[in-house]
Amino acid sequence: MKFFIDTADLDEIKTALDWGCLAGVTTNPSLYSRIGGKLEDFEDHMTKIANLCEGLPVSAESTATTAEGMIEEGRHLASLAPNIVVKLPIGAAGLEATHALKADGVNVNMTLIFSAPQALLAAAAGARYVSPFVGRFDDIGDNGIDQLATIVQCVKNYYTPDQCEIITASVRTPQHVTEAALLGADIATVPLGALEKCLKHPLTDQGLAQFEADWKKVTGQA
Ligand code: G3P
Repeated sequence: MKFFIDTADLDEIKTALDWGCLAGVTTNPSLYSRIGGKLEDFEDHMTKIANLCEGLPVSAESTATTAEGMIEEGRHLASLAPNIVVKLPIGAAGLEATHALKADGVNVNMTLIFSAPQALLAAAAGARYVSPFVGRFDDIGDNGIDQLATIVQCVKNYYTPDQCEIITASVRTPQHVTEAALLGADIATVPLGALEKCLKHPLTDQGLAQFEADWKKVTGQA
């Protein structure tokens, strides 16, 4: 499975890049707002992320509300850097814009996917990525992983990863990552905090402490 980081924070992206396992970045208006982003800096900031990530796909979300607006904004965002993927919300306007942008050779990540029919429509319109949300189902007492399982099976019945990849989004826990991988989702986009939790295991800490204690005996420092 590929790991994307779900953030607009340059320092967090640098941290994940240093780990050597980052395959892409996803952003959205909320994540940009969270870092104190200003409208006038938006394009510059997306360009900085895209340049920092050197060829890895970086999703920049359009905030237009009509198909025409999404197409225009999408073309402009895609012109900022060759690795920018235009993120669009599922809906009639989003589908129309996806179809037009694909014809231009622009990759689209269709977001806010909560059902298999939404994912299938996005893929049929030409979305390069579909982003089903997991954690937000859990927030309302549903089971996000069960919903993801249905979406993965339906999309994989018809599309190869070369055509459409599934980005598991709204990932909150290492368990979400494990379950997404078990289901065969192509990608998980994960906030840095959850990625750090994925690194941790108490038995790793315990084992490391033991190695350090035993090495002190070897070096005569114990
Ligand atoms: O990429 C968008 C998605 O990951 C949002 O996650 O935590 O706001 O539900 P969250």
